[in-house]
Amino acid sequence: MFVRVDHIGVAVEDLDAALPLYRDAYAMPLVHREVVEAQGVEAVLLDVGENHVELLAPLGPDTPVGRFLAARGPGMHHVAYQVTDIERTLDALREQGMRLIDETPRIGIRGSRVAFVHPKSTGGVLTEIVQPAEGH
Ligand code: CO
Repeated sequence: MFVRVDHIGVAVEDLDAALPLYRDAYAMPLVHREVVEAQGVEAVLLDVGENHVELLAPLGPDTPVGRFLAARGPGMHHVAYQVTDIERTLDALREQGMRLIDETPRIGIRGSRVAFVHPKSTGGVLTEIVQPAEGH
């Protein structure tokens, strides 16, 4: 079902304050930065081989990542698995009784299509299903 781990999502208070660790100390190439209104975040993608780290800073306190930071502070936020057919994957997960946060895909970073699976169905791990846009 899953092609590979696409990225690890990390919640941060401030993108520019987080970059020295990932871009400089870890020497991960910064490949993309984008405001994703649909998710209420500004996000940065850094390459780790074929995979990524996604840093997420909230656009405001009343957003999913803003509420996450208020409740738990910065740190690991989600794991994202890459798929080739997101509708089929969501159908398969639904058939297995899993609780989806997004019943239909929405637009993610770099034009990808994404949907989140509720941590109540995944042993506490917020899980993102991602189908990259063509060419990514
Ligand atoms: Co993500």
